[in-house]
Amino acid sequence: MIWSLCLIFCLSNSMLVIASPAKHHLCLPDQRDALWEFKNEFFVQEFDPSIFGTRTEKWRNNTDCCTWDGISCDPKTGKVVGLYLMLSGLNGPLGFNSSLFRLQHLQFLDLTSNNLSGILPVSIGNLKYLMELRLGGCHLFGKIPSSLGNLTYLTNLDLAVSDFTGELPDSIGRLNKLTRVASSISHTQWEIS
Ligand SMILES: *[C@@H]1O[C@H](CO)[C@@H](O)[C@H](O)[C@H]1NC(C)=O
Ligand SMILES: *[C@@H]1O[C@H](CO)[C@@H](O)[C@H](O)[C@H]1NC(C)=O
Ligand SMILES: *[C@@H]1O[C@H](CO)[C@@H](O)[C@H](O)[C@H]1NC(C)=O
Ligand SMILES: *[C@@H]1O[C@H](CO)[C@@H](O)[C@H](O)[C@H]1NC(C)=O
Repeated sequence: MIWSLCLIFCLSNSMLVIASPAKHHLCLPDQRDALWEFKNEFFVQEFDPSIFGTRTEKWRNNTDCCTWDGISCDPKTGKVVGLYLMLSGLNGPLGFNSSLFRLQHLQFLDLTSNNLSGILPVSIGNLKYLMELRLGGCHLFGKIPSSLGNLTYLTNLDLAVSDFTGELPDSIGRLNKLTRVASSISHTQWEIS
């Protein structure tokens, strides 16, 4: 009798252990969904497979998004703080309401060398904790939004090899942590001290 009780108890315990990993994802569900939707906003086509970078196709929506290629999370809160998707073959414009802008805790965003071929939406200014923003070689065009001046933690800004027109907005001059800027257009409006 005691043995069979123990057996039932031990069995149910080990089943709990087996079942629990799925419940212990570090990643927060809203962050995972935003990443998943973001990936689906683009048509993925490798430009040159030999130099292919981060692969969003390896992401699996039933796994912890903090383990996905190109993602880093705050180890305590599970918030996505880094998105490193350089050379990922992402094709398509970055929409004003892209799911990217729901990743409100991003500190590092690297989309270098993808084909975003559109404007840089003003909503980029909503990612207010960004410290590094790398959008070089993304075929972005149009004006650089002045909302970049809202990114007060920004230290690195890379907008090189782009088709932007006009000048860097004056608002960028407010960014007193900014130490590195790479851009195809003139810096004449302001200086980095
Ligand atoms: C999760 O991914 C699978 C295939 O990878 C897909 O069939 C399913 O619809 C996805 N679920 C959600 C919620 O996106
Ligand atoms: C953005 O908004 C438009 C309508 O304004 C909607 O059709 C589209 O699905 C939205 N996209 C995302 C990624 O939420
Ligand atoms: C980039 O995207 C544009 C528009 O979607 C397309 O016309 C062009 O062929 C793409 N370039 C590359 C290198 O894939
Ligand atoms: C962000 O920047 C835009 C344009 O510079 C400005 O109109 C807006 O008030 C700013 N928002 C915040 C929250 O600072």
